[in-house]
Amino acid sequence: MRHAGHFVRLLALVAIAVVGFLYVRSLVVPKDFGVKGHYRLSAIEDEAKREARHIGSDACAECHDDIGAAWKAGKHHTPQCENCHGPGLMHTKVVAEEPTTGYPDPILKFNNAIKRPTGIMECKWCHLKTFERPSTLKSISSVREHVESHHGTYTTETLCIDCHNPHTTVVTLPKLAASSKAPVAK
Ligand code: HEC
Ligand code: HEC
Ligand code: HEC
Ligand code: HEC
Repeated sequence: MRHAGHFVRLLALVAIAVVGFLYVRSLVVPKDFGVKGHYRLSAIEDEAKREARHIGSDACAECHDDIGAAWKAGKHHTPQCENCHGPGLMHTKVVAEEPTTGYPDPILKFNNAIKRPTGIMECKWCHLKTFERPSTLKSISSVREHVESHHGTYTTETLCIDCHNPHTTVVTLPKLAASSKAPVAK
């Protein structure tokens, strides 16, 4: 019985640790955690309140009516504006001179807070032939072969938009001759 005191002290320490843990836990775990599952129930509501980062092609066309009309009438109305240009919320805030603090968004680093696509990379995302793409989507298996078969000269600088209007896909040969030297945000 000489050593019983050690046990009592040990048990007391364990009890303090357990009670302390439960107390701190009750302070930091939100009240509605675990109501429906292993998450905070009100997180759903909080997420739903966030403004959507994509605004849809119709909203783009309200300001860019010429491009919107050409896109709608042409053969390229399946890919949406924001498939190529990225989400448009920041852009509309910036051009309308609305505050953007509180919207941390990497897209802000682009001019007008919208991506100016490269005119090749995003075309390849959809049109380069891979076995998992639908066979109904017109695709090309090699950029060099495609360009050369259409009397173009292939270089590392070749862009799809040297020949194709990205909004309608229509081939405009004067642009091919001029070649695209327009600055491109990467
Ligand atoms: C509230 C009107 C408005 C809406 C909506 C809008 N834009 Fe714009 N957009 C502008 C204005 C204004 C400019 C600036 C024109 C300039 O700088 O000459 C611009 C410029 C651009 C540019 C050129 C960027 C650059 O680098 O020069 C692109 C691309 C663009 N918008 C795409 C879009 C897309 C895609 C959408 C839909 C997601 C969209 N815009 C929605 C008004 C709008
Ligand atoms: C398939 C991809 C693609 C889609 C879809 C697309 N764009 Fe573009 N857009 C581009 C590319 C590529 C450029 C750059 C063209 C260039 O540099 O000559 C561009 C340029 C622009 C510009 C700048 C034009 C200028 O002359 O300064 C605007 C504005 C724009 N797009 C708006 C739109 C809107 C609005 C839609 C939807 C109605 C749309 N885009 C859909 C690829 C796309
Ligand atoms: C998000 C996917 C997507 C991207 C990105 C995309 N396209 Fe397309 N493209 C399509 C789809 C889908 C069609 C078929 C349109 C349809 O059936 O309505 C198409 C059709 C075409 C066609 C054939 C039109 C015809 O004659 O039937 C050409 C040419 C074309 N795209 C060129 C381009 C170029 C150039 C770019 C880059 C600026 C590009 N596409 C980017 C999805 C895409
Ligand atoms: C040298 C000019 C040139 C360049 C650069 C170019 N194309 Fe084309 N492309 C054409 C021509 C011309 C056609 C045939 C158009 C027609 O029949 O209306 C065509 C047709 C297409 C078609 C439809 C194919 C079909 O089976 O009907 C697709 C898809 C396409 N191009 C995608 C691209 C993509 C993606 C790029 C960039 C990687 C690109 N093109 C670069 C000239 C070009």
